[in-house]
Amino acid sequence: MVYQNSLSFAQKLDKKDPLREFRRQFHIPKFKDQDVIYLCGNSLGLQPKIAKDLINEELQSWSELGVEGHFKEKNPWYGYHHLAKPALSKLTGGTAEEVLACNSLTTNLHLLMVTFYQPTKNRYKIMIEAGAFPSDQYAVESQLNYHGFSTDQALIRLEPRTGESTLRTEDIISLIEENGPNLALVLLGGVQYYTGQLFDIPGITKAGKKAGAYVGFDLAHAIGNVPLHLHEWGVDFAVWCSYKYLNSGPGGVGGMFIHFKHGKNQKLKRFAGWWGHHEEERFLMKKGFQAIPSVDGWQLSNANVLSLASHQAALEIFSKARISRLREKSIQLTGFMEFLLEQFDESENKPEILTPKDPQQRGCQLSLSFNRGGKQIFEHMERSGIIADWREPNVIRVAPVPLYNSFEDVYKFTHILRNCI
Ligand SMILES: Cc1ncc(COP(=O)(O)O)c(C=O)c1O
Repeated sequence: MVYQNSLSFAQKLDKKDPLREFRRQFHIPKFKDQDVIYLCGNSLGLQPKIAKDLINEELQSWSELGVEGHFKEKNPWYGYHHLAKPALSKLTGGTAEEVLACNSLTTNLHLLMVTFYQPTKNRYKIMIEAGAFPSDQYAVESQLNYHGFSTDQALIRLEPRTGESTLRTEDIISLIEENGPNLALVLLGGVQYYTGQLFDIPGITKAGKKAGAYVGFDLAHAIGNVPLHLHEWGVDFAVWCSYKYLNSGPGGVGGMFIHFKHGKNQKLKRFAGWWGHHEEERFLMKKGFQAIPSVDGWQLSNANVLSLASHQAALEIFSKARISRLREKSIQLTGFMEFLLEQFDESENKPEILTPKDPQQRGCQLSLSFNRGGKQIFEHMERSGIIADWREPNVIRVAPVPLYNSFEDVYKFTHILRNCI
């Protein structure tokens, strides 16, 4: 698309946008009686207006039915977690036997490393990004320690080349090949949280599998942001949270994907709980764990229904909007923002965009790095009605989200940013 640097051009794009009505389905926080320019859906997505109704429905059932709510007619709590499966399948490209809403991201990561990190004398190394999200680093380091390895012995960290901010696929693949016989697990983000880089998930998976390792992804910044085909790509496992692009509320329920070739394998090691036991026998209170032959066999506890209710509200919107259409708009929206930022004068402390230029290597987020005064610029932005996020030492992350951000938001943001600079 050929972009123009004007408010009227942005408004014209909004008028033509087939997804523009979805914005009305969200509560947009206010600044001086106007909608804020909310560019922080990569951190916490906005509240769908129907979330309250769906949560209230379950509160109502609880008040009227008490424990009988587990088996009420509409959406019994006993199987409430199944409701999320169709939408999660579309978002991840996994089947209903492969996707599950449960727990939280880091908890799920630990649970799946219990299964997919089984070090042997020769195959014991884990590969992650050097700049992986701290919680993932802590989880991986503690798993290594738990198995008696130090990070020096067993952790491989992927670093960008000197002078570069993002990782090259060829470098990731050659490091996988180099460490092949010793590699137990490759664990990367789908979209890198700091730089916004979308990794080549199928390419990395293929290389990791060829090397004989398990391959897993942290999809916190990928799910709901870019289309995924985890089953087809042969990814072994993935985990995610639902409070970012999935708009399911602070601390909302997480999720996991386990490829069916593993999910059906009841012999795989795991930490077990009663909710992972065969559903029809669950209340027989028998001894001897029998795993459900799917990702559901990794469940531990009965589901958090109130959290799943707001998840359901958000997933219903995704099902209507459809991830393929959202991606199309997202590429235009982020492309427009990039175009406007490129118009800044070099003498204006122009931010450097760390995120790859190629739309196929990024989602909606752009990470802007400032040579000087980044924090002050960010604080100024906040006082001017923009909500974005600051990451030390010098980066402002901005994410125009196609479900509720407009081209006008993007135009106004760059206009205000220029003033702040
Ligand atoms: C990439 C990534 N991984 C992991 C986490 C941790 O998620 P949780 O606190 O839900 O375990 C986050 C949180 O923002 C994240 O951005």
